[in-house]
Amino acid sequence: MSRSAHPAGPRHADVLTEGHYAAPPADLNALDEKVWARTVSRDDDGAVTVGGIEVTRLAEEFGTPAYFLDESDFRARCRAWADAFGPDADVFYAGKAFLSRAVVRWLKEEGLNLDVCSGGELTTALDAGMPAERIAFHGNNKTVAEIERAVRAGVGRIVLDSFQEIVRVSHIAQQLGRRQRVQIRVTVGVEAHTHEFIATAHEDQKFGIALAGGQAAEAVRRALTLDGLELVGIHSHIGSQIFDMAGFEVSARRVVQLLTEVRDEHGVELPEIDLGGGLGIAYTSDDDPREPHEIAKALGDIVSRECEAAGLATPRISVEPGRAIVGPTAFTLYEVGTVKHLEGLRTYVSVDGGMSDNIRTALYDAEYSVALVSRRSDAEPMLVRVVGKHCESGDIVVKDAFLPSDLAPGDLIAVPATGAYCRSMASNYNHALRPPVVAVRDGEARVIVRRETEEDLLRLDVG
Ligand code: LLP
Repeated sequence: MSRSAHPAGPRHADVLTEGHYAAPPADLNALDEKVWARTVSRDDDGAVTVGGIEVTRLAEEFGTPAYFLDESDFRARCRAWADAFGPDADVFYAGKAFLSRAVVRWLKEEGLNLDVCSGGELTTALDAGMPAERIAFHGNNKTVAEIERAVRAGVGRIVLDSFQEIVRVSHIAQQLGRRQRVQIRVTVGVEAHTHEFIATAHEDQKFGIALAGGQAAEAVRRALTLDGLELVGIHSHIGSQIFDMAGFEVSARRVVQLLTEVRDEHGVELPEIDLGGGLGIAYTSDDDPREPHEIAKALGDIVSRECEAAGLATPRISVEPGRAIVGPTAFTLYEVGTVKHLEGLRTYVSVDGGMSDNIRTALYDAEYSVALVSRRSDAEPMLVRVVGKHCESGDIVVKDAFLPSDLAPGDLIAVPATGAYCRSMASNYNHALRPPVVAVRDGEARVIVRRETEEDLLRLDVG
């Protein structure tokens, strides 16, 4: 593993043999467009702007730490996904990546649907005016109250995750005098090449019903016979932060195989398949994500080929990207508080946030990039570890990265690609106040989720 960093002179690149930090980038002032939101740039004076506003001004107005979200980038990504899949497919944004009422309105305006996985997400979606029929409701253990709320609201589909839930949703729908559209989530037995905690299609895990051993076929049998349910399709989600399309192709093939069996056994052609989300994004310059049109083509081709071979009409495809839409659109802005050089070991840069605003590094060993954004610097690169202010050694934001060696307290640094699963997984550890999310667009910035205050903390603590 890496160890190193001394404040001056050539950095210890010789002891680093792997990873994107093995050698410093040619120019630390350059911002790789792969990892930064589209309107982020650095002008000749060194000032970094997003949506036309200097980040130093944003820090003055909104404080740090804070997430800044490039609204036009978000909207452009929504449109790119919708255009790539076209009118015969559906794109459901996965709200777990990041959801707020403003986001729901943008999705609605850009023609996307929404995947929610809790009563809280459902409330946010409905409150912000997402039509219920454009909402899909997920989760491996939805409560009776959540199911009732979803059925009553008229959500477009509930994705059934277990045998018990098939009965539960049928029962609730009948009680409410409804026929609920449902899909069945299956596990297709694919080992996605991603972190263990975010791989979801191998059989040994909590989600879905296994294709293996005929379990999914049995689930279909039950869903087709129970009243209150209209089975419209099969769902598969193989994991997250995946670059290799092979897993999706195997998944699509196995789902179509199940559709074929269903047709042969029941004489029913299920009209929909959902292939889930999980497309990877660039966190560092080493990552090469696929574009939505490539993904749409790869999935569309495989599904139509398999269906043709089986003599099935091609079902309507849907996908559920979360990270791939919101991930690249935001960065987290921090102020440097301390810089600690450990001779021959490492340099620690402590910022005013940490694992409470980005748990992904600690939880998944995730890699991130970082840049000095409040000024330009032509100082030598130094290898650093960016850490937070929490009482825990594992409180790491960026494990290894190069920053200029004249970095000092008061400098602003930004970590790009934090739009997904950072604010949504943020915590109050050490009674930290969760940072705001500020949307920036065309020279205007507005808070879409405000910063927590100490009053918020005390309000929950009823004494
Ligand atoms: N659909 C289903 C059924 C899902 O479970 C997920 C993510 C998605 C769609 C969206 O996946 P995406 O396109 O965003 O990869 N906290 C982890 C990721 C957990 C993903 C859970 N499910 C992380 O920070 O990497």
